[in-house]
Amino acid sequence: MSKHGLFATMPIAELARDREGAGLKRSLGPMALIAIGIGGIIGTGIFVLTGLAAAQHAGPAIPLSFIIAAIGCVFAGLCYAEFASMVPVSGSAYAYSYATLGEFTAWFVGWNLVLEYMFAAATVSVGWSRYFVKMLEELGIQFLPQALITAPFAAGPDGHSIVFTGGILNLPAVIIAAIVTTVCYIGIRQSATVNGIVVIIKVTVVLAVIAFGAFFVNFDNWHPYIPENTGTFGEFGISGILRASGIIFFAYIGFDAVSTAAQEARNPQKDMPIGILGSLLICTLLYILMSAVLTGLVPYPQLNDAAPVAVALQAHPELSWLTFWVIVGALAGLTSVILVMILAQARIFLTMSQHGLIPRAFAKVHPKYRTPHVATVVTGVFAAIAGGLLPIGILGELVSIGTLIAFMVVCIGVLVLRYTRPDLPRPFRVPGVWAVSILGFLFCGAMAATLPAGTWVRLVVWTALGFILYFAYGYRRSRLRAGDFGPPQPARAEGT
Ligand code: ALA
Repeated sequence: MSKHGLFATMPIAELARDREGAGLKRSLGPMALIAIGIGGIIGTGIFVLTGLAAAQHAGPAIPLSFIIAAIGCVFAGLCYAEFASMVPVSGSAYAYSYATLGEFTAWFVGWNLVLEYMFAAATVSVGWSRYFVKMLEELGIQFLPQALITAPFAAGPDGHSIVFTGGILNLPAVIIAAIVTTVCYIGIRQSATVNGIVVIIKVTVVLAVIAFGAFFVNFDNWHPYIPENTGTFGEFGISGILRASGIIFFAYIGFDAVSTAAQEARNPQKDMPIGILGSLLICTLLYILMSAVLTGLVPYPQLNDAAPVAVALQAHPELSWLTFWVIVGALAGLTSVILVMILAQARIFLTMSQHGLIPRAFAKVHPKYRTPHVATVVTGVFAAIAGGLLPIGILGELVSIGTLIAFMVVCIGVLVLRYTRPDLPRPFRVPGVWAVSILGFLFCGAMAATLPAGTWVRLVVWTALGFILYFAYGYRRSRLRAGDFGPPQPARAEGT
């Protein structure tokens, strides 16, 4: 394929050289990688969206929705694992696409990963703000006026238009994004340590809800297990289970972020698949159990609340002591999701910059902290702005669609590379690659199809913006297009 064409692919050897040239610190072992995965996964999905998905769409059958979403994610996760063991670079799905489907597709995927990671950091900052305000309310503290905890924009009733809310800024969302960005700036080791502590807290809280809650499950709440369809698609019945799987797909996003830490892993070929699949399997199990317990604790309509776990516990006086810890666990959980998302986005920017598709400054590595500090700050600033100004619904659906598209490309890419580069060493191989990659593509496509039309419209606008940027900058500055196959020249950090 011509190196000047839009679909020119980046040689794997070149990606591997970039891996060595980035200057990042290799300090992560398998447990830290699993913790990064869990850190990115457990958050808004289980602590906020489960209630809405159960109350409005699936009823007590919500664990089935978690299983359906998990199947799509496990297929995609297997494909990520093969790529990550074979091409252990920070660019994740963007770099895998560059190696298989060409620069234009890679740009499209990279641009969608911005939707995934940067917007997920913003989405979860908004969720964090809600839980934080709720915690202060519980303690009787009036922290800020309503205008400073409310984003000025919201989706209009038609789902397409944007309306003004009268709010000024979601200030707590901005503050948490700024704090987490600072941690990411300071170092990967520090970030991994903070993440590890937070993961222990949130997993303990989830396990406590499951273990103590199980004693109070009223089996009557599980009947009928699949409530009858109300006559509207997606409200109970089988269609409701499917619609709920599209919503709670958000709960699984994050396992793929492990792949962006490939250049900071001590033994990426072996540990990447462990990190990706290990975190995904642990969280799948926790989600199925937790959602079963929640729908067993109270009749499912009562879960229609932004804090469904607290609602379920408060219905049982013997469990109300757990409520405060659930809020703490949720705040901790959401913090680590923001952290992992910012880490991941910065590393994807770094890789795109190494290839010349975005300015060289994004590839700068801090002389002391050895983090991609410019990319980290840019990510943090944009996440803070988006989290401060936009509502959680619009942000969350953009994240889901961007992620699903990246997953679909990864599923196809793994199959393509089996045929175009059968010679490459694959420390981890997807078993039954034809079935897994095609089913992964179809499952993710089906979940994307359940997202509202307004989200698709915003995706088209986002994609058009990305193409304008690509042709205005990346297309002309691409290292691949310039025939520059030499070892990368890492941008000099200030002070070096
Ligand atoms: N999976 C992450 C969450 O649920 C994005 O918050």
